[in-house]
Amino acid sequence: MTEELAEVVRSASRVAVLTGAGISAESGVPTFREAQTGLWEQFSAEDLATPEAFHQAPALVWTWYRWRQALILQVDPNPGHTALARWQRQLGAAGGDLSITTQNVDDLHERAGAQVLAHLHGSIFDHRCAECSQLADLPEPDYDGLVLPPEPTDPPSCGECGGTLRPGVVWFGEMLPVDAFDSAAATIRSADLVVVAGTSGIVQPAASLPLLALERGTPLVEVNPEETDISDAMDYCLRGPSGTMLPALADAAL
Ligand code: APR
Repeated sequence: MTEELAEVVRSASRVAVLTGAGISAESGVPTFREAQTGLWEQFSAEDLATPEAFHQAPALVWTWYRWRQALILQVDPNPGHTALARWQRQLGAAGGDLSITTQNVDDLHERAGAQVLAHLHGSIFDHRCAECSQLADLPEPDYDGLVLPPEPTDPPSCGECGGTLRPGVVWFGEMLPVDAFDSAAATIRSADLVVVAGTSGIVQPAASLPLLALERGTPLVEVNPEETDISDAMDYCLRGPSGTMLPALADAAL
């Protein structure tokens, strides 16, 4: 990291962070645009993550999400998650603020001890009725998430109306939770540093959120081993894994 970036980080008291699947990659959660294996190799996540896919093949889509849920339950937060939690605590204690907005449906930020302002794409641990929207509590999946489930099984029925339960995530073509998006936009507009970690910057409207920082000339930092669709807008690019780069940023903030 350059001395210039270290100084920007040191002097920032209102930090807004946007995270994507890459921050959980080092915990063992595959990103969306990596190849799937086994039964799922013929389906891309994007083909499964739509209301149309669920309508056509509810068992397949339901089981894919339950498998991913089981996988997430078996992994732990990595140093990228814990660095953000530490930085958030440090800034909070000093009267500042670090807000985390994530596109991830996992709970690894929370398990690392951080507070998440907005889960833009919902939570994989929520289930709701596809017809009446009633939330439903379900037991944890009873299979090993590190081994692919053998057979797709039908989603359970809603206890209220008998409709079909669906994962509580936001699919392609669906609206993001308005409150979550608005609060994320507000923190980015009022930040004095914006950090974007582990996202390909492809999926809208989340990808456009960090670009709100351009309105006020707020410094933008990207943490990603690869160049992305939004790299050109960045002031600083840290090309490496978030499990290494985020601890370095949090250290620089001290
Ligand atoms: N550290 C940081 N970034 C990483 C790491 C790592 N260790 N490993 C991979 N990455 C980067 C990849 O280079 C890529 O740019 O993480 C990014 C992951 O991109 P996507 O899989 O597209 O994930 P994301 O941007 O979160 O996807 C957005 O798309 O499918 C939907 O709703 C889903 O929330 C998801 C949304």
